[in-house]
Amino acid sequence: MNAVPVVERACELRAALDAARRDGGAVGLVPTMGYLHEGHQSLVARSAGENDLTVVSIFVNPLQFAEGEDYGTYPRDLDRDVKMCAAAGAGLVFAPLTEEMYPQTPITSVAVNGLNAVLEGRFRPTHFDGVTTVVAKLFAMFGPGRAYFGEKDYQQLAIIRRMAADLSMPVEVVGCPTFRESDGLAMSSRNVYLTAEERPAATVLWRSLQAGRDAVVEGSRNPDEVESVMAAVLAAEPMASTDYAAVVDAATLDRPDVLAGELRLLVAAHVGKARLIDNLGLDVDQL
Ligand code: PAF
Repeated sequence: MNAVPVVERACELRAALDAARRDGGAVGLVPTMGYLHEGHQSLVARSAGENDLTVVSIFVNPLQFAEGEDYGTYPRDLDRDVKMCAAAGAGLVFAPLTEEMYPQTPITSVAVNGLNAVLEGRFRPTHFDGVTTVVAKLFAMFGPGRAYFGEKDYQQLAIIRRMAADLSMPVEVVGCPTFRESDGLAMSSRNVYLTAEERPAATVLWRSLQAGRDAVVEGSRNPDEVESVMAAVLAAEPMASTDYAAVVDAATLDRPDVLAGELRLLVAAHVGKARLIDNLGLDVDQL
């Protein structure tokens, strides 16, 4: 396996990308906060198959964490991450210090209004503005032709797509499927917070989504009914405390009056110290 160069400075990044582009190379970006898992590796591998140079950014972005959230304890292991990037086909890792990304406290931010306030936004009101601000910065620094994001963070993906469209950013935002453990738990860097006792309970999110999907497949077209089915599965797990169980239009994230077309079922719950999210797509017209 080839070693992957790691750069920490924006000027080094620019020099490496300029050199790649001089030869007509297409650049793919995989933005991450590190502590990578197979889901991240699948994004890197997809990008490596579609671009000449794949760069992985590894940066735990303070702007997207609110007071009292896990910014300080978010898992970090750069050496391991770099090996995983190499194994998946990355050509460069950008791992800046906070001072490099934010040399001065930013007074500019990017907000995708409306979409940033529903679902996750109700529980984490400042989160998505922190995400869109850092992703806009990464797009400006990298100028990637394509950027890869997991569907695991479905609302984030929808918001980044909308930001890129509204601001005419010349980047293709590519969404990639969620990777799951064999029992259905969506892979997440935050799964490391789960104790051995909590780990089986964490599958309740996936079970809830499947129950919601089954209700639609069996004929329910009433969002209240489907959400109640999902919420009941979550409520039956004593180790989980639910934030939401929702069914929305997959493109707009609006809650439909009657279920039709492409839908997304989304859930969020706390299991011990971990706040977990998951989602599942469903096309009613294809049932
Ligand atoms: O999904 C993540 O890991 C982060 O929200 C992202 C997109 C890297 C921005 O910090």
